[in-house]
Amino acid sequence: MSENERKTRIARRFAAAAATYDVASQAQQQAAQRLAELVMRLPVTGRPPRILEIGCGSGHLTEALRPHLPGEWFVSDIAPAMVDRCRRRCAPGAHYFVMDGEVPSLTGPFDLIVSNLAAQWFVDLPGGLAGLAELLTPGGLLALSTLGEHNFAAWRAAHEAVELSAAMVAYPATAALLAALPEALALEQVAEQHLSAHRGGPLDFLHSLRALGADTPAPTSRPLTAGQLRRVLRSLARHAPQGVHYHVVHLLARRRV
Ligand SMILES: C[S@@+](CC[C@H](N)C(=O)[O-])C[C@H]1O[C@@H](n2cnc3c(N)ncnc32)[C@H](O)[C@@H]1O
Repeated sequence: MSENERKTRIARRFAAAAATYDVASQAQQQAAQRLAELVMRLPVTGRPPRILEIGCGSGHLTEALRPHLPGEWFVSDIAPAMVDRCRRRCAPGAHYFVMDGEVPSLTGPFDLIVSNLAAQWFVDLPGGLAGLAELLTPGGLLALSTLGEHNFAAWRAAHEAVELSAAMVAYPATAALLAALPEALALEQVAEQHLSAHRGGPLDFLHSLRALGADTPAPTSRPLTAGQLRRVLRSLARHAPQGVHYHVVHLLARRRV
């Protein structure tokens, strides 16, 4: 599958899940709240600031941050149905549009670019971050959360315990995330969160990924048979009764003046 085909598939899965996203996205909402708090502690240039959001989804971050940070807001997502959902949920007055955050169709400049839990879907993270950095004013802030190396670690371990491999990408170590920041950006802050990925039993984890639209598998993976899936679920219940967790990494970096 080409990178473009994978991206189309990711966008389709999120679009199809727009109506169910909110019931399954407690962790995403908690991460959005944390990211909003981190942004609010830092100075933002521009009077009023121009703000770009990438991967808005149903609007958890937009809703958490926009009332506290008046300015001209440009709110985008690669999935049209997510943009519609966000537009309906959040107050009018922002510009809502469909855009691939890795290939921005805007010229900027922006004083602040925010993104909660979308960049883990980028096919080229360093390239995507470099493109976003170019859209910032000197002194402008990029505030982004993504998934770190321990993300879904119990799910991966449950597969390995029964000699299978999980259909998920390898999430980067924090050092690798920092190394992916372009030279134009100076790191201001890193913060990490571990959040429960499901409320019920092991099967609930899979149901929640589907409800979120976050179930596009890693490019080279093969689907499990029903028997293999049962073994993985039993293995998870045995080895990790506390369930599967998200490992969220928040990065805040400023464009060098
Ligand atoms: C896990 S959701 C997070 C949504 C929202 N930010 C939140 O806090 O709930 C990931 C979102 O990123 C979007 N997305 C995935 N790849 C993207 C890309 N390349 N550019 C922009 N949005 C993307 C998806 O459509 C989805 O809405």
